Amino acid sequence: MPNTLSQDYKRTCVWKDDLFAGKVVFVTGGAGSICRVQTEAMVLLGADAVIVGRNGDKAAAAAREVAELRPGAKVLSFAVDVRDINTILEAVKQTVESLGRIDYVIAGAAGNFLAPITGLSANAFKTVIDIDLNGSFNTAKATLPELLKTKGSVVFVSATLHYRGLPFQAHPAAAKAGVDSLMKTIAVEFGPLGIRSNALAPGPIEGTEGMSRLGKGSEHNRQRSYEMIPLGRYGTTQEIADGTVYLFSPAAHYVTGQVLVVDGGQWQTTSPR
Ligand code: HXC
Repeated sequence: MPNTLSQDYKRTCVWKDDLFAGKVVFVTGGAGSICRVQTEAMVLLGADAVIVGRNGDKAAAAAREVAELRPGAKVLSFAVDVRDINTILEAVKQTVESLGRIDYVIAGAAGNFLAPITGLSANAFKTVIDIDLNGSFNTAKATLPELLKTKGSVVFVSATLHYRGLPFQAHPAAAKAGVDSLMKTIAVEFGPLGIRSNALAPGPIEGTEGMSRLGKGSEHNRQRSYEMIPLGRYGTTQEIADGTVYLFSPAAHYVTGQVLVVDGGQWQTTSPR
């Protein structure tokens, strides 16, 4: 079970309670762990939200649970495959019909598994590029017309996998490199139109799907990996929430085209082998 935020976040975070009141955030991957926490923070601080995902039942369950965090919160869900832009366009249309607007977009839908290139078929590589990179493009393409109306902002969920060569991660690393590039292009093409585009790159975060898929290991390995992280521990979901809130908040109104790495300094020190 991923770590989720509770109403305690409002007591312990540094943000104003109603920071995003009247705003709407559209989230791909919001039924997963990282994007779910990002959505929770936005909702706890006043936003309404839309969670879209390939598994409609899972997205609906996440939406119901997130809505319970704040009385009066509206959290919708739609079944969407980010590889098919028509499904996103339909969800955007229904979002605007129901909630009136889209102010923020979190493009986080991702797929990953560990595999050496010798164990990676052409279709396996393409599948992850299609979900992570093409899905991010489709999400931006489908939502930017709405962001133009609200002078909104987009945050892509990136990674640090591509900063160095990393074994068994050829597919998501190539995809996330593309996502960072896409994010920067949107920043310069749409900055003059009032839209900001940034990315958040999580490192090892306790209780997330990425950690359970990629970070399995013994207590000995865990202690060793702590030693490789300058801040000496794994991150928390609250730290991902805070980074996301920062990027959408007025505190970041002069910040665009940037990747905010939330990893305790890990990528600076970790050897790929
Ligand atoms: C090698 C694999 C594989 C594996 C699938 N494939 N799993 N190859 N090792 N472990 C191959 C399949 O054999 C097939 O190729 C191709 O990939 C497509 O597989 P499908 O199962 O048909 O695709 P699909 O149903 O679309 O599923 C996509 C998926 C799956 C990415 C493969 O894992 C998925 O749906 N994941 C979504 C959830 C997820 O991964 N979350 C993790 C996010 S964490 P062939 O050639 O046989 O047809 C994250 C964090 C990253 O991203 C950062 C960490 C720090």
